[in-house]
Amino acid sequence: KTSFNDSNLSLQTQAQKDAADQNFDYMFKLLIIGNSSVGKTSLLFRYADDSFTSAFVSTVGIDFKVKTVYRNEKRVKLQIWDTAGQERYRTITTAYYRGAMGFLLMYDITNQDSFYAVQDWATQIKTYSWDNAQVILVGNKADLEDDRLVPAEDGQRLADELGFQFFEASAKDNINVKQVFERLVDVICEKMSESVNGEPSPLANHKGPSLQDTPPDKGGCSC
Ligand code: GTP
Ligand code: MG
Repeated sequence: KTSFNDSNLSLQTQAQKDAADQNFDYMFKLLIIGNSSVGKTSLLFRYADDSFTSAFVSTVGIDFKVKTVYRNEKRVKLQIWDTAGQERYRTITTAYYRGAMGFLLMYDITNQDSFYAVQDWATQIKTYSWDNAQVILVGNKADLEDDRLVPAEDGQRLADELGFQFFEASAKDNINVKQVFERLVDVICEKMSESVNGEPSPLANHKGPSLQDTPPDKGGCSC
């Protein structure tokens, strides 16, 4: 039987191997956070595998999936980390915030507590992540309109206050799932192009065309 630490270590090795595979132009590390049971794992499975299960298997620690998207003929490899929402894994999961370029911060529209917790999750991002990390607030389970406890306007207002973009989504009914991930990729690309004349970006795959290879007259990131 392997302990959590062993499996965590092999996961990191796996992630490093995955990053070493040079078959992409950019790699974005994304993190999904939010209270337990809001649907983080479900959203990722819907996006990466187009699958959904109504059984709840709470995530232990952290896991990741890979998906490649294309932006203006550039391959953007997404390494998407799915964190455990349960409090007892907080030390492990926050250790992964540092390398993340984008966050999906999720709550469940039928669960008030998960919405009240958004502020705390935003503070965690501020504390542990890179300053330029982009965040999208996602109100999940939009299919459960009859059980809704958080009005969409409240989600939008909170997102505006925090300076995040906002979507409601449903992993179950496949509403806004692709859109949420694509929007996050787009806002990261926009941020990259803003800072293209600054420091060499850690985001570019150094064997592939880097941001610095972009002709200056093209105005930055071409994704
Ligand atoms: P932790 O791993 O404990 O942090 O939870 P999680 O956020 O990963 O939640 P998970 O994806 O495991 O989903 C929790 C429960 O909600 C499961 O029973 C899912 O089937 C259900 N669920 C997830 N997304 C949706 C959705 O969009 N609509 C509905 N109706 N149920 C959903
Ligand atoms: Mg999970």
